[in-house]
Amino acid sequence: MYSSSSISKSLVLVPILVVMATQLLLMRTVSSLNMTNAYLHHKCLVSQAMMAFGDEPDMVSVTFLCRGDSYGPKCRSCFATAQSELRKRCPRDKGGLIWYDHCLVEFSSSDTTGQINYDDGFCMPSAKNVSGDRISFEKSLLVLISDLTRIAVTKNQKPALYAAGEKRLGKKKLYVMVQCMLDLSDKGCEECMSHNVVHYQDCYKQKQGARVLGRSCNFRFELYPFVDQKSSPK
Ligand SMILES: *[C@@H]1O[C@H](CO)[C@@H](O)[C@H](O)[C@H]1NC(C)=O
Ligand SMILES: *[C@@H]1O[C@H](CO)[C@@H](O)[C@H](O)[C@H]1NC(C)=O
Repeated sequence: MYSSSSISKSLVLVPILVVMATQLLLMRTVSSLNMTNAYLHHKCLVSQAMMAFGDEPDMVSVTFLCRGDSYGPKCRSCFATAQSELRKRCPRDKGGLIWYDHCLVEFSSSDTTGQINYDDGFCMPSAKNVSGDRISFEKSLLVLISDLTRIAVTKNQKPALYAAGEKRLGKKKLYVMVQCMLDLSDKGCEECMSHNVVHYQDCYKQKQGARVLGRSCNFRFELYPFVDQKSSPK
């Protein structure tokens, strides 16, 4: 019933020059990006000051997270697209966050490693409402999110903090995935998920699907499969 696979993720502290070199290197793979990897949202970190690294203003922390079923070339091309797009969208800012269907990239000059970011979340509900038994739909959804989160944090296959699963609801099937940033502790992952489940309920409740995305954790549900079930990381 459940499946889970590991994710590609890197939390690195690199000089900007290295980032730009990497960017050039990766640009070549952008053209092969699967067009289903939609841009979702971005946020420029306008007020962030270059204070974190004292005398080294050319240091920037680059954090990225690929969706659990995106790794290898797919992950790298999402990262390349996302970081070049983030530079375009936040040209004068010290940092920023950008979300694509398959990855999240953050540039930051302050170190927030391990902290749960509750500020930069958002919710993208599907236009369609649930038809039929809404109460049992919602109950199944919450149970599935909670079960998957527990699986994500207990699965001993790092890098992980990702799980996807499904549940039959009459003639339909509910598909859910959850994922946390790898800088979170297991407890942090569960806290982040519980927070977002409550905080965004007015957005996703009674919808046939939604993405709830943040810097620290995210979940998505749909009445159709959206993760690559067959993919398994090397
Ligand atoms: C893009 O991804 C979707 C599902 O993830 C897949 O069905 C499709 O074949 C892919 N297209 C390309 C061009 O890789
Ligand atoms: C979905 O439900 C909400 C709240 O009941 C309603 O306002 C909205 O018009 C519905 N949307 C559709 C597409 O039926």
